[in-house]
Amino acid sequence: MALNAETISQQSLPKHIAIIMDGNGRWAQARHRPRVFGHKKGVDAVRSAVQFCSKLGVKSLTLFAFSSENWRRPEDEVSTLMELFLFVLTKEVRKLHKNNVKLTIIGDLSKFPENLQQKVVDSETLTQDNTGLQLNIAANYGGRWDITKAAQQLASDVASGKLQPSDITEDAITSRLSMAEQPELDLLIRTGGDLRISNFLLWQAAYAELYFTQTLWPDFDEAAFAEAIACYVSRERRFGCTGEQIKELLASKQTELKV
Ligand code: IPE
Ligand code: IPE
Ligand code: MG
Repeated sequence: MALNAETISQQSLPKHIAIIMDGNGRWAQARHRPRVFGHKKGVDAVRSAVQFCSKLGVKSLTLFAFSSENWRRPEDEVSTLMELFLFVLTKEVRKLHKNNVKLTIIGDLSKFPENLQQKVVDSETLTQDNTGLQLNIAANYGGRWDITKAAQQLASDVASGKLQPSDITEDAITSRLSMAEQPELDLLIRTGGDLRISNFLLWQAAYAELYFTQTLWPDFDEAAFAEAIACYVSRERRFGCTGEQIKELLASKQTELKV
């Protein structure tokens, strides 16, 4: 089912979408080109995904660009990815800013080269007051790292007497995780055919719809993204309540849905 930005009501759309952008290497290999060629092509797909979400009025888009496990890749691939990241930040940020996009990088940036860390700070500062799409790029990010960091903060608050152990609630943990101020994750997409989360948003994905597609990341264009959204909208979302309750809710919204 093909959808475009006008045929579907805002309320039924996901507010926060995250994507595990996988398959760049295979895309390049299929063309007998080096893996980095796929990463470069993947940047075009990032641009297209950002534009699509901006048009659609999605509040937050979170893209997995480099995992905490990706350091294990060959050294030249890692350094090319760093260079590409720096190049994209330098080249694209002005355009993002013009389009009212607010950019945030999530992950442990301390391991990144100095010039890249500075670029991240500059880019976030430039776009911090923008009110359009919130774009989060996950770089050296790991879901376990995020939760561990929150646990350390809570432990130090308990040690200093600011908190009691009984103050460690789900909300207290959530508020110390990356993207705490943003809408809850609604839809998690993985391209490239693998059926796993690869240590991405572990806590935040608790109630997210999961969408897996064989499409390799460089081929994930507007039509492929629209397909993922259509699938999300058509699924019955349950949140641990009864299907009847959801149906009643859906019935009350029926007039707004034009799918
Ligand atoms: C994902 O594509 C991009 C990054 C991890 C940076 P891959 O590089 O994992 O591509 P495949 O999975 O090997 O095809
Ligand atoms: C996940 O892809 C990480 C990113 C897309 C950045 P990988 O290709 O690194 O994941 P695994 O190793 O197959 O689980
Ligand atoms: Mg991969």
